[in-house]
Order: sequence, then structure tokens, then C-alpha cells
Amino acid sequence: MERLTIRRPDDWHLHLRDGDMLRLVAPESRDFGRAVIMPNLVPPVATGDDARAYRDRIVAAGFARPLMTLYLTEGTDPADLVRAHAEGVIHAVKLYPAGATTNSASGVRDIEAVRPVLAAMEEAGVPLCLHGEVTEASVDIFDREAAFLDRVLTPLRAAHPGLKLTLEHVTTKDAVEWVRAHPGVGATITAQHLASNRNDMLAGGMRPHFYCLPILKRRTHQEALRAAATSGPGSFFLGTDSAPHPLHAKEAGCCAAGCFTAPHALPLYAQVFEEEDALDRMEAFAALNGPAHYGLAPNEDTVTLVRGEPAAWPERIAGHGHQVTLFDPGWPLRWRVEAREG
Ligand code: DOR
Ligand code: ZN
Repeated sequence: MERLTIRRPDDWHLHLRDGDMLRLVAPESRDFGRAVIMPNLVPPVATGDDARAYRDRIVAAGFARPLMTLYLTEGTDPADLVRAHAEGVIHAVKLYPAGATTNSASGVRDIEAVRPVLAAMEEAGVPLCLHGEVTEASVDIFDREAAFLDRVLTPLRAAHPGLKLTLEHVTTKDAVEWVRAHPGVGATITAQHLASNRNDMLAGGMRPHFYCLPILKRRTHQEALRAAATSGPGSFFLGTDSAPHPLHAKEAGCCAAGCFTAPHALPLYAQVFEEEDALDRMEAFAALNGPAHYGLAPNEDTVTLVRGEPAAWPERIAGHGHQVTLFDPGWPLRWRVEAREG
């Protein structure tokens, strides 16, 4: 297949930051219709008013259809949250275990402390998106997602069976199997976790632009993710987790977590689907499963991808006082977005 026309995808997990960085990266999600915007700013997007103001800044910066999330803290007011959802200000709520990742210090330390909020969300039909990793220093970083399934997610699901759950950026075979075993739970998958495994990050030198959280796992997990993403209609859908950091924060003695993929995420995903001989199932993953999970209509307009001669990936974007390096999987760019129609 040389050309692929699909309904316009949505990005169900995106970091846009704020200020000058927001102005630099917001236009780079041009291939996507809607995007679920992560709330891990400093300070976090914690109230309905915060979300409303941040939404306006995003639209002004050049991304027209943000779906906002609230950052769940142990001080979240359930009434404010439910009102923000009822008024259409927020799409979902994000749970970060405190200490799990970038700007997660305000996250949840003790799930019991947010029990009333979870109950209110379950009652009002507000979706919960989860960063699925435990944070205990004693748990190996490669095992933190699997431990989260047993210690947090399984009991959470049992306690709140009516709560709409999305397990974000799944990275392991364990998570794929857990999601398959729990119909109604959705899961996003990033391009870098499909394209790469931990050897790409660590063998022959340590490559900071492959470092994100949850961390890239071994090849067997990558293969399980590829099988899930290419499985057609179902629970798995596209969420880039595109997470820009300034160049100096990535190429540093202690490198920040996050891969910046937004500008060329669709070519990355398309290459993976081609390798899996599954281009005919890319539309389900990129444009249909996410809306179905959230009870929204898919986009009416389309994008067309074209396969061409191998080329180098663009190296970085710059502007507004920032430079951000794009994720480069280490193989050539073959697909490009030819047209956005509608
Ligand atoms: O790699 C990551 N970067 N994972 C996250 O969960 C957060 C993100 C960020 O905000 O930079
Ligand atoms: Zn994220």
C-alpha cells in the first residue's frame, strides 16, 4: 500500500506545556483533530477555572480542539470537578501517583485520600486516566507498571466498577493482558513504545531522547504492544504522550523523561502498522477506538498518508526561545502526511 486515507486521528494523551513552550509546540499537533491535554503543569491544572483558562491559552497558541483534564490531588474538590465536567470544561481527570513522573509531586500518595472524589466521578460519569506505575523505591523501574496492575488497578476496578478507566501509555505485555481481561477499560499506546525497546535506548550508548516514563521495556513487551495496537476494533487507541522538554533538559546528566513525537507521530505509527502488515487496521487504532471508548463521534474529515523514499527525520524545532529535539527511532522516515481534508 502506497497511500492510506483514514478519518482524522485524535491524540488521546498529549503534553502541551505552557507559555513559550506551548506557543512553540501547539501548532505541531496539526495532524490530529482533538487531543486530551495532560494537566501536569507547575502548578498543576487543579480546578475547573484552571482548566478553562488553560484551554483558552491552548486555543490562542494554535491548537483548536483541546479536551482538558484535571490533575487529581488529595485536595481536589469533588463538587468543582463534577461541575467542570457537566459544563463541558473537562473531558477527564488524571491520576498521577506522587513521584511517578515529571511534575507529579502534587499527585496521589494514598488512594484512600481521594476515595470520595473517585466515588463522585463514578456517579457522575467522569472518566479517570491513570499513569500506571507504582513509585516505591524498592520496586525496579522496569517492574513498576506490572506492580501497579496488581497493587492499585485491580483493587480500584473492584471498588469502583462503574468508573470509566483509561490506562495511559501501556508498555508491557502484563498491561495488555490486564486490559484485555477488563472490557470497558481503555488503553493508550505511544509511538515510541511501538517503534522501540530498551535496547534502542541503552545498547551501544545511552540515548536520552528515548527516555520516557513508563520506561521502554524489552522486545517481548514491544511485540505485545504491537499486537494490541494492530488488533483492530477494541480497547487500544492512539495517545502519543508527546512530551517536549528543552534541549538542555534532555541532554543532561539527569535527563528529563519524555519523547517529543507530535509533529511526526502519524508517520511513526504508520511505519509500525506497515511492518505489522496491518495498515488496514490503523484507522481503528488512530481514529475510531478512542472516540468509541469515550462515547464521542469519530472525526468526519480525513488525513492521507503517502509512502515515499526513505528520508531523514527532521531533527528539531526551534522558536519562542526554545529548542526541542524530535524523537528519531533510528530508521528512516518513509511515510508523510500528504493532505488533511475537511
Ligand atoms: O515521559 C514522560 N513525560 N512521562 C510522563 O508521564 C510525563 C511526561 C512529561 O510530562 O514530560
Ligand atoms: Zn504523559
